[in-house]
Amino acid sequence: MKLSLLALLGVSSVTASPDSLTAVPVIAIMSHPYNSTHEFIPASYVKYLEMGGARTVRLPFTADDAEVEKIVDNTNGILFMGGKPTLPEPAIHAYALATDLQDGGTPYTLGGTCLGFQWLSMLMANSTEVLSCGFDSEDLNLALEFTDAGKASRTYNPDTGKYSSVDMVSLLTDNAVTLNMHTCGIDPVVAATIPDYTVLATNMDRAGLPFVSGFEHATRPIYGTQFHPEKNNFEYGGDSADVAAEPAVHDENGLRMAFELISFFVREAAKTGTRYDAASGVEIVYESNEGIEKGDAHEETYMWKM
Ligand SMILES: *[C@@H]1O[C@H](CO)[C@@H](O)[C@H](O)[C@H]1NC(C)=O
Ligand SMILES: *[C@@H]1O[C@H](CO)[C@@H](O)[C@H](O)[C@H]1NC(C)=O
Repeated sequence: MKLSLLALLGVSSVTASPDSLTAVPVIAIMSHPYNSTHEFIPASYVKYLEMGGARTVRLPFTADDAEVEKIVDNTNGILFMGGKPTLPEPAIHAYALATDLQDGGTPYTLGGTCLGFQWLSMLMANSTEVLSCGFDSEDLNLALEFTDAGKASRTYNPDTGKYSSVDMVSLLTDNAVTLNMHTCGIDPVVAATIPDYTVLATNMDRAGLPFVSGFEHATRPIYGTQFHPEKNNFEYGGDSADVAAEPAVHDENGLRMAFELISFFVREAAKTGTRYDAASGVEIVYESNEGIEKGDAHEETYMWKM
């Protein structure tokens, strides 16, 4: 029997409504200083969030309070990326706005990768003192050592079977697919002093010093990984001059880990309902960027004039 195309499409002739784009979760990424005139976001963070079902806007590193408020008003959450700068005032302001929204019943979602994970750890501790430096863990792919809380966490055990059949705890225990590129981090002993900071997994650096590999807030939608899942699908080389670059693992396990982590994060962020309004003037990264650098360790990097 032959099925007609119409039958395949279904009888209800569902078409995309004009609202279907604004209904997609929109996540802000905080850009970092590039040089004295420009800020940047590596394309891998944009693509990673898109892989999870979100669109992205930029939260400038130098945003004033009003700009931070406008971007929070028009997004479902923020991803703080990896990099070098110290915790800036706009990140502290955004964190306060996010936790106020959460207290009011809107589950505005925060995520952090590497430096961004460290910023969120400092914000949760309300102290920059929780950061330790001197780890030998640049360009290091590792399997995770899960805590009991990690095995039962929202991040790694999200309604198993409901959204995905992937057992993330086994996948990440058995496969060294999380790429670390850090010399600073969070000592598990210090982490235990941060209220509501649930350590999900730990690792050791090349010298045997332990660090936290991932956390989630006990109750709030706040998540962080010391490693870089945005690189597995979208970047091909390391960026450290000190040691032989060990690139992100692009095998099936590496790709799947990244997909599962970001689709969980975007699903969490979607729980706020639609917040983006194009009429606000907040532009999607593709519209707002003022140039693309090619051929660096990030493959492509979006630029903005300060
Ligand atoms: C900063 O980098 C951008 C992008 O490559 C470039 O256009 C600009 O001229 C640079 N600014 C300075 C002061 O070097
Ligand atoms: C700690 O909290 C105070 C008051 O909210 C804030 O001004 C300060 O920036 C915070 N510091 C950090 C590191 O989060």
